[in-house]
Amino acid sequence: MKVTALPLEQLRLRTSEKWREYPDDVLPLFVAETDFPLAPAITRALEQALRAGDTGYVASRNPLAAAYAGFAQRRFGWTPDPARMRSTADVSMGIVEILRRVIRPGERVIVNPPIYPPFFDLVDEAGGTVERVPLRDTGDAWELDLDAIAAALVDGARAVLLCNPHNPTGTVHSAESLDALARLAEEHGAVVISDEIHAPLAQSDAGFTPFLASGEAAGRIGYAVTSASKAFNLAGLKCAVMIAGAEDTTAVLRNLPVEVEWRTGQFGLIAAVAAFSPESDEWLDGLLATLDENRRLLASLLAEHLPEARYRIPDAGYLGWVDLGGLAWGPNPARRILREAKVALSAGPTFGAQGAEHVRINFGTSPEILTEAVARIGRMRTDPLAGQE
Ligand SMILES: Cc1ncc(COP(=O)(O)O)c(C=O)c1O
Repeated sequence: MKVTALPLEQLRLRTSEKWREYPDDVLPLFVAETDFPLAPAITRALEQALRAGDTGYVASRNPLAAAYAGFAQRRFGWTPDPARMRSTADVSMGIVEILRRVIRPGERVIVNPPIYPPFFDLVDEAGGTVERVPLRDTGDAWELDLDAIAAALVDGARAVLLCNPHNPTGTVHSAESLDALARLAEEHGAVVISDEIHAPLAQSDAGFTPFLASGEAAGRIGYAVTSASKAFNLAGLKCAVMIAGAEDTTAVLRNLPVEVEWRTGQFGLIAAVAAFSPESDEWLDGLLATLDENRRLLASLLAEHLPEARYRIPDAGYLGWVDLGGLAWGPNPARRILREAKVALSAGPTFGAQGAEHVRINFGTSPEILTEAVARIGRMRTDPLAGQE
């Protein structure tokens, strides 16, 4: 099934953040929403719910955990136990609620910048202190800096907030590095919370491993939080899944206040069940094929219009992390690009100090929009004002 992004005039009818933050002369390639239509099984499920007025509270006995277990089995060869899952409104809330229960106020939580900027705030919201352990750049890839993580754990950090796959670099962490991380955490009495919101978008050549499936230690000390919201563009409907791998970590989920689960959106749950059902597999395969084309298209567009840019094709997702340092457009090129090229990108410095001179480009869009956006930015190279703040 070919999955094709909607044309601009239809997208402009949307009222979400991506389409309302900037005026119509700006091409929005910033926030992680996609420009694709909904998967047909989701549209059908939501239409049926609307017709039935099925807009009450999420049922305690609901099919989400079983649907996710089936999805994980088909897509990742991993069968998490539905009895070890709870739902909540979104991945961010799941992370905060778990963190609150596994650290004491002020304790340190490791994050790996450049990182999805709200990670800094989520640790803060949960009462923790952010400990930055940057990803290691090997020259042609990024990886977890296990030595530096070990040092932080020896020094007292109590938790690791992992991003797998990683936003913004699109890195799928190797099974070996995940297992090594889990062992280190266990050795030092720490836990790992793995944000796997981009996992359904891991390309098949990347060999994605769910953290909890990476080894026995991960099963004992890990939590995963995930959702259908990035792959299926359902962020506004509010539904995420928290997963534990052992009896005592499951007890943490079970003992969360009942309100944490009651905040799950009924439409979010209905849509997520349809997304995770086998009915949506063909659509997701089609989306992955489209994103595979787009991640390569971005490489060729940058080579053509911005040859100074450095970009590595991501393993997963629809976010491209681009180093524009070669252009000397200053520490935050997104600001200048918005003003001069009328293209909205995510600002690199918000992802941590490693994001200076970087931008994040959302390529979950049509080849036409992506091409126009990069061409517009490329025209700044010939602008005599470029490079001056
Ligand atoms: C890594 C990561 N975690 C969490 C989120 C936010 O998810 P939610 O809206 O479910 O809180 C995003 C959104 O882009 C993300 O990229």
